[in-house]
Amino acid sequence: MTRFSYAHHLEDFKSTASWLARRGWSEAAGGNLSLRLEMPGPLHEDDHIPLPFPMPHLAGKAILLTGSGTRAREIGVNPQPHVGLFKISDDGTSYGWIAGNRKPSMELPPHCAIHNTLAEHRPEDKAILHTHPASLIALCHVQGLDNGKVVSDKILSLQSEARLILPEGIGFVEHELPGSLELGIKSAAQAKKHQLVLWQFHGCLATGETLAHAFDLLEVFEKSARVYWELRTAGIDPAGISKTTIENTLTYFGRLDRYKSTQE
Ligand code: 13P
Ligand code: ZN
Repeated sequence: MTRFSYAHHLEDFKSTASWLARRGWSEAAGGNLSLRLEMPGPLHEDDHIPLPFPMPHLAGKAILLTGSGTRAREIGVNPQPHVGLFKISDDGTSYGWIAGNRKPSMELPPHCAIHNTLAEHRPEDKAILHTHPASLIALCHVQGLDNGKVVSDKILSLQSEARLILPEGIGFVEHELPGSLELGIKSAAQAKKHQLVLWQFHGCLATGETLAHAFDLLEVFEKSARVYWELRTAGIDPAGISKTTIENTLTYFGRLDRYKSTQE
C-alpha cells in the first residue's frame, strides 16, 4: 500500500462535485471527474491492466478518477470512498489500482486519452470534468448546431465575456458510445485546442488547471446556452454580438491570437 498522500486533492473533488449536484448537471450517477498527478515509484508487476493504446505522456504518472456509479451529491459530501487512485506504468502502456475506489468510471478511456494529450500539449491543465447539463444537451437537438465552430460562434456571441474566457471556442464530438475508445480518441483530438468539448446528445467535457477551474469554464458556456434558450423561448433567434465587436474585444485583451488559432 502506498504512503503517497493525495488527501488534499480530494477537496477539489468534494467542492466541484457538490456544485455539479447543486446545479442539477450530474443527475443520478451522471458525470465523472479526474486529476492527473505526479507520483513517484513503479507500479507493482502483478497490477498491470492494459491501457487501450500506449500513452507515453502519462508514463509514471497517476490519475485520481471517480468510481463508476458514484453520485456527485455523495462525492460532494465525502469524496474519499468514491475516488480511486490509479498509477500508470513507466512505459505508459498499462495502469493499476493503488488506493480508494477500485471500480473506475466507465469513461476511463476518454479521461486517460485526454490526459495523455493534455500532458503533451497543455501540461498546466491537470483536471477533467464530464457532466450532463440539460441546456447543453438541448443545443445538440437544434438543426445546424452540429459542429464546434457553429456552436462557438452562435452561443459564445450571446454575452460580452464568453468568447474572451473561451477564445478557442468549443470542441465537438458527434455521438459515440459512452465510455468508448472512439469517444476518447476524438475528444483527445479536440482537447488539443479546446478547453471544452461538447459530446453530442450526451453532455460536456471540461478541462482546466483544477476541477474548480474546469467548472468555471463550463459555467460560462452553460450560462451562454441559457441566454440562448431564454431568447428562443421568447421567440427570438439571436444574431449575437457581431464578429467585429468580438474581435475588437479579443484584441483589446490580447487574446485574438488564441481565437484565430482555431479559425482556419
Ligand atoms: P460513470 O458513473 O461510470 O462515471 O458514468 C457516468 C457517465 O456520465 C458516463 O458518461
Ligand atoms: Zn456521461
